[in-house]
Amino acid sequence: MLTFDQVHFYYKKGQPVLEDISFTINAGEFVAIVGANGSGKSTIAKLMDGLLLPRKGSIQFKGLDTANPAELSEIHQQIGFVFQNPEDQFITTTVMDEVLFGLENIRVPREEMHSRLEHALQAVHMEDYLDAMPHQLSGGQKQRVAIAAIVAMRPQVIIFDEATSMLDPQGRQQVLAIMQELHRQGLTIIQITHHMEEVLSAERLLLLHQGRLEFDGDPLAFFETMPVADYQLQLPFAVRIHALLHSVAPPTADWKGIIRSQWSTN
Ligand SMILES: Nc1ncnc2c1ncn2[C@@H]1O[C@H](COP(=O)(O)OP(=O)(O)O)[C@@H](O)[C@H]1O
Ligand SMILES: [Mg+2]
Repeated sequence: MLTFDQVHFYYKKGQPVLEDISFTINAGEFVAIVGANGSGKSTIAKLMDGLLLPRKGSIQFKGLDTANPAELSEIHQQIGFVFQNPEDQFITTTVMDEVLFGLENIRVPREEMHSRLEHALQAVHMEDYLDAMPHQLSGGQKQRVAIAAIVAMRPQVIIFDEATSMLDPQGRQQVLAIMQELHRQGLTIIQITHHMEEVLSAERLLLLHQGRLEFDGDPLAFFETMPVADYQLQLPFAVRIHALLHSVAPPTADWKGIIRSQWSTN
């Protein structure tokens, strides 16, 4: 559905950010994109949506080419974005207006707006906050409203670019749960993160490293077979414990001590 074909990208000539990137994301997949800071994750997200164009190669979404200006608005409608900072995402004054604003922009008929609003706020469990203003909401709630505004526009894909990284643990859990719910409902979810705890619920993991797509496959296989620390990434807690418990013998070893020591470094 979303295909990168030998994509190269740089901001400044001679300083490649992405080199020869090829992959296809299928409809309904839940894909995590990981990599160290500056590895090009946000750049890839902007390329997906046609906010940036490849210097070489091509990017197609359902046969539409991001390099074709005539097809770009259709691509924008089908691919929604949730960004890192919940503070930056509120444009209007109330939760209701925030969702309606996007719908007006894409000229949804008046009589359809209300049901879309209701459904979108239910999807993020914010239906009781219709008249709430931004300062009355926590970071996690603001992020959920941002998601509702996108859900209301009925995209096929939602890209979350480090959307949980500024949230407290509770807000983070809520947003992760919503990603999973939306995935179950059939949306394609692309989750960009450098928190490895968060990628275990993805079906597929893409790793960016020094401009290349270094890994494309099952997240558990990634943690089991790749030198994760070399990419400035941390193993998830559960994977660390699993590995350690299997490395100690005999099985009567101090497993509580192991868990305690790992917990404190988590
Ligand atoms: N607008 C820009 N102009 C020039 N360089 C940029 C711009 N945005 C990002 N970069 C550079 O491109 C590289 C990849 O950045 P980015 O895609 O933001 O990485 P990530 O999201 O993985 O942290 C970094 O070296 C970054 O400094
Ligand atoms: Mg980024």
